Amino acid sequence: MNAPFLIAKGITKRFGALTALSEVDLEIRSGEVLALLGDNGAGKSTFIKVLAGAHSPSDGELLIDGVPVAFSSPKDAASAGIATIFQELALSENLTISENVFLGRELKRSVLGVPFLRRKEMKERVAGLLKELEAHISDPQAPVGSLSGGQRQAVAICRALNLNAKLVIMDEPTAALAVAETRKVLSLTRRLAERGCAVVLISHNMADVFEVADRIIVFRRGRKVAEKMRSDTNPEEIVSYITGAHPDVRALEKTN
Ligand SMILES: Nc1ncnc2c1ncn2[C@@H]1O[C@H](COP(=O)(O)OP(=O)(O)O)[C@@H](O)[C@H]1O
Ligand SMILES: [Mg+2]
Repeated sequence: MNAPFLIAKGITKRFGALTALSEVDLEIRSGEVLALLGDNGAGKSTFIKVLAGAHSPSDGELLIDGVPVAFSSPKDAASAGIATIFQELALSENLTISENVFLGRELKRSVLGVPFLRRKEMKERVAGLLKELEAHISDPQAPVGSLSGGQRQAVAICRALNLNAKLVIMDEPTAALAVAETRKVLSLTRRLAERGCAVVLISHNMADVFEVADRIIVFRRGRKVAEKMRSDTNPEEIVSYITGAHPDVRALEKTN
């Protein structure tokens, strides 16, 4: 097994009197899809915001490749190789695929001191990424506004890869998609892991999770209550951890 890319140790996040995350320990490995599950309010989004540098933990620490890190902004997390694909995707409808992938980091060359965009190179790089992901999008010059929901996910994933992300966090990537599109996004997710990325997938869809995840972690009321290899569990058991019906969770909640 690979050494973990990221280790979270005792991550706690308080918002005033409310404890959104309580002493969460977990490891995220390169080449692995880790699914994060839990009911609404369980702390999933808060946790990924800590990973993404959007929230500082109240307590605990993050280590990347064994080295403690403290992110004071999403930019810090991005520099450390963490890319988060939020549900809203944050793509610009009126720009092309290639422009979206390179947004804010365009390749330029200077001719007599005048900057020119290296459009051809950018287009070729994006075409290569799309092909590698088997995204079935032939034209990097197509406007993002013309794409389906699944194709937009592919563009967001390309952007993450173009930033050399080592960890890609996907928040409910299939929530708004039809069945065929969902299949495509799940296979993109798998290919990211095969490419050596660590992937964290947040999803409510048990079938999706069981299809694509290597490992499953359940949060409940801000705590990690289960961590299972997919091959060692089943959807019924995971649901019982989420709802708190599982005997382990009942025992844990009795002592707290
Ligand atoms: N910025 C915030 N300020 C105050 N409370 C928050 C904030 N963000 C999340 N919370 C609270 O933290 C808890 C966990 O929320 P969240 O991480 O969004 O859960 P999930 O994503 O699993 O649904 C909830 O009780 C939520 O209301
Ligand atoms: Mg959430």
